[in-house]
Parts: sequence; C-alpha cells; structure tokens
Amino acid sequence: MAESSNELMDKLVALCKRRGFIFQSSEIYGGIGGFWDYGPLGVELKRNLKAAWWEDVVRRRDDMVGLDCSIIMNPKVWEASGHVGGFSDPMVDCKDCKARFRTDKVAMVSFAKGDNVLLATAVEADDDNEALAAALAGANSKTRRRIENAGDDLARTVTFLNKMPEDQSGACPKCGGQLTEPREFNLMFQTYVGALQDSSSVAYLRPETAQGIFTNYRSVLDTSRMKLPFGIAQIGKAFRNEINPRNYTFRSREFEQMEIEFFCHPDEADTWYAYWRDARFQWYVDHGLKSAKLRLRTHEEDELAHYARACADVEYAFPFGVSELEGIANRTDFDLRQHQQHAGRDMTYFDDDAWERDKDAFSADKFDGDKKAAKEAAKEAKATKPYRFIPYVIEPSGGVDRAALAFLCEAYTEDEAPDEKGVMRKRVVMALHPRLAPIKAAVFPLVKKDGMPQIAREIHGALKAAGLASFYDEKGAVGRRYRRQDEAGTPFCITVDGQTLDDRTVTVRDRDSLVQQRIASDQVVPYVQDGIKG
Ligand code: GAP
Repeated sequence: MAESSNELMDKLVALCKRRGFIFQSSEIYGGIGGFWDYGPLGVELKRNLKAAWWEDVVRRRDDMVGLDCSIIMNPKVWEASGHVGGFSDPMVDCKDCKARFRTDKVAMVSFAKGDNVLLATAVEADDDNEALAAALAGANSKTRRRIENAGDDLARTVTFLNKMPEDQSGACPKCGGQLTEPREFNLMFQTYVGALQDSSSVAYLRPETAQGIFTNYRSVLDTSRMKLPFGIAQIGKAFRNEINPRNYTFRSREFEQMEIEFFCHPDEADTWYAYWRDARFQWYVDHGLKSAKLRLRTHEEDELAHYARACADVEYAFPFGVSELEGIANRTDFDLRQHQQHAGRDMTYFDDDAWERDKDAFSADKFDGDKKAAKEAAKEAKATKPYRFIPYVIEPSGGVDRAALAFLCEAYTEDEAPDEKGVMRKRVVMALHPRLAPIKAAVFPLVKKDGMPQIAREIHGALKAAGLASFYDEKGAVGRRYRRQDEAGTPFCITVDGQTLDDRTVTVRDRDSLVQQRIASDQVVPYVQDGIKG
C-alpha cells in the first residue's frame, strides 16, 4: 500500500517535471528546499485555478469584493495578530550533525519482546503508524526479520519528543547524536526596510494574506459602500520558513493563498460559517475532486485556537497521507478587536438598517415628550449592540499550491487507448477539469499537405482570438499527438482531415471518453467554450 502510494507520487512528480508543470526552484544550482517553480503548463493550471476561484467567490457575487495588499507590512501588524509572539514551532537541533527538527515530529520507537529490546531508535514522523514504519524501514534486515517473526507478544512503543517527561532527551533521527532542549523558532522570514539594518528596520514577509484584509477592512467599508454581511477576498504569496518543507509542493516556504474574510453580524456567524464550510467543500468537488479522497473534518473543541468558535478542514488523501487543503474558521471578532486595540482605530460597524427599523422606539413620545431623554437614550443605544458592534469573521483560507497538487494527484490516470493501428496501449492521462486544464484544445492537421495545415491554423487562430489556450501540432503520428495532449490534460483535440476539405467539418476527440464526433469547423470555438464552463 505504502509502496504503491510512493510509486504514484514518483510518477506524478516525474510527469510534472517532464511535461513542464512543476520544476525545482534554481535547479541548475542544486535547488533550494521548500521553493518551487511552475513551468508553462503549471502556470496555466495555477492561473486557471485562481481565476475560477476569483470568478466564483468575487465576480459572481454581490456580497464580495477583492483586494491586493503588499507583502511587507508595518511590523506592528504581526504583533497585533500574534505572529511575532506566537507563530513559532518548538525545535530541537542535533549537536552533532546540526540537523533541525520540529519537536512534535521526533518519535522514539522501540520494539521489545519481554525484556529483550529488538530495536530502539529515533525517527521523524507525523504519527504512530508512520513512526513504526520508518523505524522498521531503518532497521537492518536481521533485526527486521526478528521483529516480523516475533508475533503478537511484541511490544511496540512510540513516544513523541514533545510528549516525553522533561528529564529525557532524544537521539537525532538522522545520526543518533544528542539533541538540544526544544527552542522556539519563529516561522516568519525577516528582512530590513531601508538602508539601516538594525532592530528599528526589521520587517517580515507576510506569513498569511489575511492580515492585509483585516487592516484594510475600514478603508474598504468606507470606500465601497458594502454593508454587512460582506466579504473581502485576496489571492497572494505568503512565506513561512517551514522547518521541514516536504511532500513536494505541499509544505513549501513560499506559496500562494486564496483567502476570504467574511464579515457578519455576531448573531449570524454560525449560519455563515456553515454556509462557507459547505460551499468551499463543494467547490473542490465541482472542480474534479469527486472521489472519496476528499473529506470535511470538523475540529474537536480542544483543537480550536483560543479565539475560534468553530473550524473545519477540507482534507484530501494525498499519496503521502490525508492533509489539509483549506480551513474554514469562525474567528469571532478576534482579529478586528486586536487591530482596534493595537492601532487605536475604530473597527466597529454601525447597522443603519437595524437602527432604521428600531429608531421609533427612541422618539420623544416614547419618553413622555422628553426630547433630551430620548436623544440620550438613542445615543446610548446607538453605541452598542445590536446597532454598533465589531463584526464576526468567517475565514475560508485555502492554498493555491495545495489545491493544484490535489487536482494533479486526482487527475493522474493510467488506462488503455487504441493507437493509430487500433492496438490497445497504456496511456497516461491527466483528467483535469476542463475549466482548470492548462490547454483547452489542441488542433492537428491529419497530414501536412492538401491544405490541411492552413485550415488547422485558422481554427487554432480562432481559438486563441477567443481567449482559449490552444496548441497547434503537426508533428508525428496523430495517435502520438493525442498522447502528448492526454498527458498535458487537454480536454479536446480537433483534427482536420480529408473530409474537412469536402464539407468543412472536423473531428473533436474527448480526452476522457475518447469519443470522436464531427462538428462544423466554425462551431469549434463555441463547442470548446461550452465544454470548459464552470
Ligand atoms: N489565515 C489563516 C491561515 O493562514 P493556515 O491554515 O495557516 O491558515 C491556510 O493556512 C492555507 O494555506 C492552508 O490550508 C494551506 O492550504 C495553505 N498553506 C499553509 N502553509 C502552507 C505551506 N507551508 N505550503 C503550502 N501551503 C500552505
């Protein structure tokens, strides 16, 4: 099982490199851990993914607006948000080989039969099962045989370093050397703004896009005439100096987020939380994550951050394990309250509609004609709930790179298709949702003569003019050309053949069903437009 998952990941990584989806950053210099580049196909996939998200959560709605904030912000933002003090992982370093580990990822594993310890070792792992598998994988073949033959009375114990009694120190999972005591390690990348490089000029690359939205909430409210409930969306780069970047692009040091902060009345927060949780889950289903690998996991009470009232993760079963694609949280009024306090700016919202509805209750006749008393009562009422309050925030926060990786994993398919001689051959197809596919249509002349290339180029030009990513290919047997497009995830291949010369029809081959149908060549553009609709 583990082997086949690794195999699938290896095949996907190889395809992504071979076909130009994803490259290692600065590969010619040996790369750099946790940084990735998107090639010609990858960049189109990512742009399509972001465009689909933007279209669905901003442009098609009346209650959402967008924002594009700077990556470097006033460092006080990160004090208010808690990132300067709290955005850190306890780490241990190996005194010998200098490797650094997250304390909660180092496990001490032992296999013992009675008093006889067969294997005791330290490994890096996410959970008990992974730790046991890693310890076994690291054992020599003799020890492994003894463990495998030991039967039911074998005791297997796994203790993670962060759960060990304080007086115990662990051994390095890499070299067996001695580890330091756990130390806090802030995940924010630090830099300096301006010519002076001292503590007064320290700034950070943002570790999330969310804070740019919170700090602009007032300006958006004042300039856009939005009324509660409404949301602000942003797509942008975020940076975290992850201790252990791993699992391909899944945990990177530079990545993109697509985040929504949806502001609402506190009394409506539970309803909006449920709405966004379900809507965001469905979005992934609608874009191709249809298998049981996609799931929604509600956080237990004891998992919630101190300020959060509810949280759910959209998770995907990647070949390397089940992990989070997006989190949807009810963050209460925590962030706006923090910024109100730290920046000294008013973050409250006045609900005009509620006041208009209730204001008659504060007219003078309700106060025995005492205008002054009525005015004072109105003033007092207007300063508090339900008329003035700090909005609650529902935050659906997703990663572009993680979503792209999940779509790539789900899309990778091996099946069989007939070649040009009708012989069934294994084919690799990236069954990406047409809306996300990097290339929407490929256009081929069956042969390079009889005017077929000219007609094919005309169709290719028409597709491009309509804003559809099209690829023209006249090289090699048509079967090979299909295969190349299958690997790129192109949903439609259009072939100009002998019949085209007679009746101006072309064949359209569907990537997934392999069905070919003839349509008029002037219908190719609307056909493809219709096929990629979200
Ligand atoms: N504003 C809330 C926030 O940033 P988060 O769970 O830390 O919450 C949100 O991040 C999303 O950003 C995650 O669900 C994930 O998709 C993505 N993400 C976080 N760290 C990442 C990393 N190191 N590499 C790639 N994506 C990451």
